[in-house]
Amino acid sequence: MDIQQEKIKELVERREKARLGGGQKRIDAQHAKGKLTARERLALLLDPGSFEEFDMFVQHRCTNFGMDASHTDGDGVVTGQGTIDGRLVFVFAQDFTVNGGSLSKTMSEKICKVMDMAVRAGAPVIGLNDSGGARIQEGIDALAGYGEIFERNILASGVVPQISVIMGPCAGGAVYSPALTDFTLMVKETSYMFLTGPAVVKSVTGEVVDQEQLGGARVHASKSGVAHFAADSEEDVIAKVKRLLSFIPQNNMETAPLRPTSDPVGRTDDFLNTVIPDNPNKAYDMYKVIGTIVDDGDFFEIHRDFAKNIIVGFAHVGGRSVGVVANQPGVLAGVLDINASRKAARFVRFCDAFNIPLLTLVDVPGFLCGTQQEYGAIITNGAKLLYAYGEATVPKVTVTLRKSYGGAHIVMSCKQLRGDINYAWPSANIAVMGADGAVGVLYGKELMAETDPEKQAALAEEKKKEYNDLFCNPYQAAQKGYIEDVIEPRNTRFRVIRAFESLASKRQEMPAKKHDNLPL
Ligand code: HXC
Repeated sequence: MDIQQEKIKELVERREKARLGGGQKRIDAQHAKGKLTARERLALLLDPGSFEEFDMFVQHRCTNFGMDASHTDGDGVVTGQGTIDGRLVFVFAQDFTVNGGSLSKTMSEKICKVMDMAVRAGAPVIGLNDSGGARIQEGIDALAGYGEIFERNILASGVVPQISVIMGPCAGGAVYSPALTDFTLMVKETSYMFLTGPAVVKSVTGEVVDQEQLGGARVHASKSGVAHFAADSEEDVIAKVKRLLSFIPQNNMETAPLRPTSDPVGRTDDFLNTVIPDNPNKAYDMYKVIGTIVDDGDFFEIHRDFAKNIIVGFAHVGGRSVGVVANQPGVLAGVLDINASRKAARFVRFCDAFNIPLLTLVDVPGFLCGTQQEYGAIITNGAKLLYAYGEATVPKVTVTLRKSYGGAHIVMSCKQLRGDINYAWPSANIAVMGADGAVGVLYGKELMAETDPEKQAALAEEKKKEYNDLFCNPYQAAQKGYIEDVIEPRNTRFRVIRAFESLASKRQEMPAKKHDNLPL
């Protein structure tokens, strides 16, 4: 009896010590940087009392550089499972207080274990990253550890959702694990991601740049697109993870949870009958349109600050989670460029992999032209979005609001890319191009030959009217069955909900293949 009590006491003490990670001094240093510890972060993330920790007593096995004298139970990562809003998740949180959270082989084994468990259980993996990268003392073992994690990221991709939260340094090859996952969230001021830090950049290229400018949250959320979110604080980033999870399923065999709403399915909105300006070159706010259609006006945007000419995010319609993709006429007239194509393609593929239906709202003048875009491979990048829509087998409902021109018309979930139900508003122009461009091509020589400016303008106007009357409406497409119906804008919400209801049991097969060859 006494021996047993002794052993229990030893366990309790050992657990308490392990919970302190690198010790109180380092915890204080972490707090002084405005950062929480790994365990504090997990406590914020998971439902109270739900955390089940694994491998608390695992220690590194390195003997180089005096490492055999320094052992911490659990090493530099806390791993386990828990629930968020009652749904199972697997987690790892790197502990910066232990050797700067640097990755040892045993840490990699701990992380890989929860990743394997997540795939077996069919539950999301959430990684909280705060690490100095590969543990230098372990050399190739640390690199092998990263390799093991990357391989699991790849195998789990499209099977369970993977979410990376960057809450401190994430440098060198370590950045590739988040890059392989579905969503990356960063915290402003306290997190950064880069392949090589400011000191190396300066010595190699002479460029002087600080951490925040090189790889801070704002930079990655707006310029590179590496981060889907730039949060204001650690609390904010955790709240965003929870909200994100509420729209997505546990794995690729399930659908996202239904969210009951008191917002009537049959709600109409006259605002939509007046939203399209008379001037086709005038912008309007697509966010307002989205807010009017979806349940309770609640739209959770992804990649808000990157490629703002296209909007992507999650919402519910009639209680069902959907991915929304919409051109934004208010930014660059909603044109498709390289970044917009990449952003939307990645989102469409996530939705398709995880059975989230797609609602596409179209108002697109075309692809952005010019040498910058051509040299940057708009051809290959635009093809990514085309490919993503064309391969997607989830229910696809598309509403064309105004412009839908040329290649961009095809790309934005048209009928021929296996669009299920395609509607258009009466204001829709579904054509090869706008009237100005078309008249320039078809009647350029006649217009140039006309020396009287008044007559020239009159001829141009006459030809534009002829073109507009013929093509710049939805009825050419409707007559040929390329769209299912021309709908009154105020009815869009219930038409969309009904469309998704009818597609709830959609089944569509892909031809057998090893894997596709998405144009990368
Ligand atoms: C071992 C490390 C470490 C690492 C930090 N530490 N990084 N130990 N391997 N990679 C240790 C420090 O020695 C220190 O220990 C403690 O962690 C805290 O680090 P500090 O430097 O005091 O903290 P701070 O000032 O906040 O700076 C954090 C940092 C810096 C910016 C991350 O530590 C740093 O630059 N680390 C090296 C980053 C790096 O180059 N990593 C390798 C990347 S390459 P003591 O005991 O002194 O407190 C890579 C390859 C992956 O990761 C390849 C995958 C394919």
